[in-house]
Amino acid sequence: MQTDLRGRDMITTQEFTREEIDTIIDVAFDLKRKRALGESHAYLRDKVLAMLFFFSSTRTRVSFEAGMAQLGGHAQFIESRTTQIAHGDTAKEIGEIVGRYSDGIAIRHCDWGVGNEYIRGVAEASRVPVLNMQCEIYHPHQILADLITIIEKKGDPRGKTITVSWAYASSYSKPISVPQSLILLMTRYGMNVRLVHPPEFKLMPDIIDQAKENAKKHHSSFEIMDDFAAGIKDSDIVYAKSWGPLLTTTDPIEDKRLTDQYQDWITDERRMALAKADAIYMHPLPADRNIEVTDGVIDGPHSVVYDEAENRLHAQKAVMALTMR
Ligand code: CP
Repeated sequence: MQTDLRGRDMITTQEFTREEIDTIIDVAFDLKRKRALGESHAYLRDKVLAMLFFFSSTRTRVSFEAGMAQLGGHAQFIESRTTQIAHGDTAKEIGEIVGRYSDGIAIRHCDWGVGNEYIRGVAEASRVPVLNMQCEIYHPHQILADLITIIEKKGDPRGKTITVSWAYASSYSKPISVPQSLILLMTRYGMNVRLVHPPEFKLMPDIIDQAKENAKKHHSSFEIMDDFAAGIKDSDIVYAKSWGPLLTTTDPIEDKRLTDQYQDWITDERRMALAKADAIYMHPLPADRNIEVTDGVIDGPHSVVYDEAENRLHAQKAVMALTMR
């Protein structure tokens, strides 16, 4: 067990060894148990997490804030548009200055080609750990919660098949950070990973290469498919969500035209029936109900979305307790 994660940034799980991720998962289960028993676990008493949002959030904001309080510390909610970032404070200045006020800096910045670089810039200048609350490339805390959920529901993930599929949504063009982070982490845990999407919804080539490399190293498999039904067939875990065609276009009109071609990519009861009888349905939320997934599936017997959302709390508390000590 590798326990010395003090001071580490969590920007992508790729920068942590398998043993270190095992430690985070182990601590998350311990913190979940302690909370269930009402045992105090104030490992970060008097510490402060600055949470900087460039984009909206429900689960991430609420779970990080609740998690810091349960660990005995405090979380500050900061929106970029109500700070002097809007008037020119740079990533370096934020890292230097906020890092002197706080014990950790968490950032959500999903702008294409900007977010990850911004988070890296803050991390470089900061004396305290920087936690990625989602950028355009990675969503590490979501994916740690997803792995915990899979272990809870399915036991040993090795040999299980997970379908990471695109699905249609009309609300807004969602980042590719969830599917990218999923294919990176699940291939490291011995799973058979199927990435399924229409041709215009490709992920970043470098991420695909890393997922292939992970699969080779960890005796798992990774395949890319373009047929929704075939991708779900006999799967243990159906993780179907929308993302934008960002590698094809960043023009909103062209994005909508491409997306609207695939309105039939909805996770419905007929499609879920193609998976194994005991398959689980996962989604990070928010979902476009009855567009991306039917009420019958998301509220149905296969769905684990609320346990998955709960596990954000335990995963993030584990990361904070280990890195911000
Ligand atoms: N899954 C997730 O990150 O949810 P929020 O966008 O509500 O934080």
